Amino acid sequence: MKKVLFTAMFAAACTMVGAQTYLDPNAPVEARVKDALSRMTLHEKVQILHAQSKFTTPGVPRLGIRQLNMADGPHGCRAEIDWNSWGYANWNNDSIVAFPSLTCLASTWNRDLSSVYGHNVSEEFAFRGKDIMLGPGTTIARCPFNGRSFEYMGEDPYLAGEMAVPYIIAAQKNGVACCLKHFFLNNHEVNRMTVNVNVSERAVEEIYLPAFEKCVKQSGLWTMMGSYNKWLNVHCCQNDSLLNGILKKRWGFDGAVISDWGGCHDTWEAATGGLDIEMGSFTNGMTADNSQGYNTYFLADPFEKLLREGKISEDVLNDKAARVLRTIFRTAMNPKKVIGKQCSPDHYAACLKVGEEGVVLLKNEKIKELKNASILPLDASKYNKILVVGDNAVRNMSEGGGSSELKTKFDISPLQGLKAVYGDKIDFAQGYAAGRPMYARVDEVPAETQAKLKAEALEKAKDADLIIFIGGMNKNHQQDCEGGDRLTYELSYGQNELIAELAKIQPNIIAVMYAGNPYATPWLPQVKALLQCWYLGSMSGEALSNIISGKVNPSGKLPITFAKKKDDYPCFQYGEEGYPGVNDQVYYKEGIYVGYRHFDTKKVQPQFPFGFGLSYTTFKYGKPTVKANGENFEVKVSVTNSGSREGKEVVQLYVGDLKCSVDRPVKELKGFEKVSLAPGETKVVEFTITPRDLQFYDEQSHQWKSEPGKFKAYIGASELDIRGAVEFTL
Ligand code: BGC
Repeated sequence: MKKVLFTAMFAAACTMVGAQTYLDPNAPVEARVKDALSRMTLHEKVQILHAQSKFTTPGVPRLGIRQLNMADGPHGCRAEIDWNSWGYANWNNDSIVAFPSLTCLASTWNRDLSSVYGHNVSEEFAFRGKDIMLGPGTTIARCPFNGRSFEYMGEDPYLAGEMAVPYIIAAQKNGVACCLKHFFLNNHEVNRMTVNVNVSERAVEEIYLPAFEKCVKQSGLWTMMGSYNKWLNVHCCQNDSLLNGILKKRWGFDGAVISDWGGCHDTWEAATGGLDIEMGSFTNGMTADNSQGYNTYFLADPFEKLLREGKISEDVLNDKAARVLRTIFRTAMNPKKVIGKQCSPDHYAACLKVGEEGVVLLKNEKIKELKNASILPLDASKYNKILVVGDNAVRNMSEGGGSSELKTKFDISPLQGLKAVYGDKIDFAQGYAAGRPMYARVDEVPAETQAKLKAEALEKAKDADLIIFIGGMNKNHQQDCEGGDRLTYELSYGQNELIAELAKIQPNIIAVMYAGNPYATPWLPQVKALLQCWYLGSMSGEALSNIISGKVNPSGKLPITFAKKKDDYPCFQYGEEGYPGVNDQVYYKEGIYVGYRHFDTKKVQPQFPFGFGLSYTTFKYGKPTVKANGENFEVKVSVTNSGSREGKEVVQLYVGDLKCSVDRPVKELKGFEKVSLAPGETKVVEFTITPRDLQFYDEQSHQWKSEPGKFKAYIGASELDIRGAVEFTL
């Protein structure tokens, strides 16, 4: 032991003689990596490839190379976790701002806001001393039961990729690495650690990879998190085809692949399969809180043994170590890394803005008694007693959800937000109880409690002249939470029945749903308005009340199709083999027909289509034109605010191939722009259709290709609400 130590120190002393490029903040990152690598022993190189605590990896203390500090992600910087266990450390300086969920961000269809989000949230990570934020996520919403949909950006790869790129660029500019999740096919939570996903090559290329690819190529992503599930019967955290083949070789990713916690299962596969950093949950050696078991991790001593025995080449080690060093010099030892801020007014303002733009107005009925005006924005002078009903009106929805749960310093609940605007007119009845957020368990609420709460709400409804129902899901287990999927498409806790009974007493009901997934709306005809709020973070109540009062005109559009009934979703059409799998094998038999591609092409009428969302104003579209420009096509369309108040419209471009030798969706999203228009104002929106936008993935030649012929460019206010179309020929 003594001899080993001395040899290491002697080697170290020798290498310290030359210029210490790796410590020079002005030296290029690659030069720093090369220099650091040349000074490190084999053992030190192995050491930086695995955890030393729940959320850190060691640096190289002897050389002054810093450790990497990580935290979840993606909606804010998670509270400090104990060094060795999953318990919270109970610090009193780690309360932060909860930003809206990523589905909400996707609903804004506003790339600039995504950049604002990435910038502000990463400042909180920087201030807390974090180098890597575990997020964002671009897993495709294949199934409305997925417990983690709220952490992702919807069902369309183009939208998800476009929205994630600005977030990542802005965060990484601050010296905080994003760790994009979960690569890939982690489309549901049931059996997530063991399930193998069987999916066509075409669906992989057209649906499940593009958002990740865009982030790698356009944002210069620094770290990627492998997913728990398997693809090609190999766990994705150690999947050579995925990590070496696609990510590193094909896309040129030069960053580090981090395992999901406990997602690594084998030293050989991890070492040769492209994993760079192993993080753990219950991995070998980590069964007790205080045991320092990290050396038994797969990428620790067992890996070192294979290297020393010459069974794995040192090139493999050097490549991994270089990727980790690159991450350290880009973040922890990046002279441009910002100090950041925590709970600053800017952060709350960003949180509010994203929330306001992400709320989607799904229904807004015209009311006879209001001279045919819509019920929203609310004309408060018409109502004296407004009854707010629902658990979500008062619930802290930053808690729960699994790893993305947050400890906030300050929150405005929906009830507080409404009281701030409508004061004494507001009364409240909980109506139903959802229990405490409990990881992997359900907190049973006694039937008598539910009955009592319901009776109270129905009693109070008799005096109200307007009801605002605030419900949905809540990040409890099986209610939008990691580690479990929902069990039904219906809302839980008797909400459907409660709304129906309230409506019999007072038909003026505005339904407000917080939820990361679509749900059945059997009560839709009985409510006058429906607002889809996702999860709105710390400023939730203010964002909501600004929309209800009309201070802000809603402009969110759905990133996920809301079906009328569960079985309309393609993942449910093939029995358990299609979801959640049988004997740990799941088959994505719908292929590329995910989300609106299915509803549109197979002519299934959704409840609310992809891209849908109402405004308090109206927009008129001109006739679109198309013109060839080199290898591209330019599409132009004018949009006019034809109503009486300022508003924002998301103009959507879909492209369809009119004749093709393979089956293709009727149309696919290939562009969108969010435009802000004053009443009467007109703007021209321009889109460029590139050759890639016309291609499909050909399974015969294993390449993207297009076939000459006629295509159609559709301009829509949603996937179903097409306002104009033009044909062009390739
Ligand atoms: C989740 C990851 C998360 C990690 C650390 C895992 O269970 O799947 O998304 O980043 O835990 O909390």
